[in-house]
Amino acid sequence: MEYRQLGRWGVRVSVIGLGSYLTIGHHVDTEEGRRIIERAYEGGVNFFDTANAYNLGEAEKALGQYLKPFGRSSFVLASKVFAPMGKGPNDRGLSRKHVFEQCDASLKRLGTDYMDLYQCHRYDAQTPLEETIHAMDDLIHQGKILYWGVSEWTALQIGDACTYCERWGLNLPVSNQPRYSLLWRYPEKEVFPLCQAKGLGQVVFSPLAHGVLSGKYIPGAPIPEGTRAADASQNEIMMNLYFKEEILSRVQEMKRLAGEMSVATAQLAVAWILRRSTVSSVITGATRLEQLDDNLKAAEIKVPDEVAARMEELFPVPDQQLAAP
Ligand SMILES: NC(=O)c1ccc[n+]([C@@H]2O[C@H](COP(=O)([O-])OP(=O)(O)OC[C@H]3O[C@@H](n4cnc5c(N)ncnc54)[C@H](OP(=O)(O)O)[C@@H]3O)[C@@H](O)[C@H]2O)c1
Repeated sequence: MEYRQLGRWGVRVSVIGLGSYLTIGHHVDTEEGRRIIERAYEGGVNFFDTANAYNLGEAEKALGQYLKPFGRSSFVLASKVFAPMGKGPNDRGLSRKHVFEQCDASLKRLGTDYMDLYQCHRYDAQTPLEETIHAMDDLIHQGKILYWGVSEWTALQIGDACTYCERWGLNLPVSNQPRYSLLWRYPEKEVFPLCQAKGLGQVVFSPLAHGVLSGKYIPGAPIPEGTRAADASQNEIMMNLYFKEEILSRVQEMKRLAGEMSVATAQLAVAWILRRSTVSSVITGATRLEQLDDNLKAAEIKVPDEVAARMEELFPVPDQQLAAP
């Protein structure tokens, strides 16, 4: 396993990370979930991502439990705050009140004294940016979190946050967690250059576009049972963003490229992301142990320039970002 720094900061994360959205503590049962976390850890994964809102705290509880046997200092634990945790007016967002209360609740659910990385899951236009920054900075001083980061903020929002921190000598955000894959290249335009200039590392999510980039969805064929696409309770985002005949056909073309390299399509998709040195970790998701094994091997694959160029031709950077959830 290769480890990269989180941007310009000292902590090192495995290039293959493991997340828990829809999987650990949710659609994956306890035994398989435990096996997936154990296998990931044994395979060198040290970066584990979750969020308070994933299955309303159940993902954090499960992840905390499965990581218990391992030395706390041997992994980097990341969670998030922003999405609704209840129906009340203060049960969401990035106010000082909600951030402080949810940080304590996450620590309890995870069964740990500190989170290595605490991320603002989205930008909160209703809360002054300085309120959120001071809350994060205070949590660092309290020792409850070691670093803070953002997810799906625009380049302008990240730039404003950095400027404020620099001006007042506060702890800067160290990481950005954007949606990023061959099917979602928009961050390349502004977000990646800004983050590089400001020293934030990228820990990117949905690298397989919810499984579409594994090549298992054949255009025109029935959706395989037991997959995320086949489950109406999980497939809304992937159906809206990626599940189009044209995209599925291009993925089949990529499958041919993967075949020529004797690697799996999913591995090629993840290895392509890792060509970018400012990506610190690719946060994968696994519903089954075999998928994790498949995805771990991506860390060993070097994608030749000519193959990458062909992939980028198949999936160019869009002129405009689609509206994303
Ligand atoms: N910051 C945010 O807003 C945000 C949003 C989403 C996710 N995330 C983070 O990013 C992590 C990963 O996101 P994601 O689950 O969307 O990632 P993904 O890699 O795009 O999709 C993972 C899913 O694809 C399928 N899959 C994975 N590996 C496969 C393989 N080798 N072959 C075939 N199918 C495979 C599995 O689904 P099936 O087997 O069920 O088909 C798996 O659950 C999450 O767990 C979470 O920690 C963050």
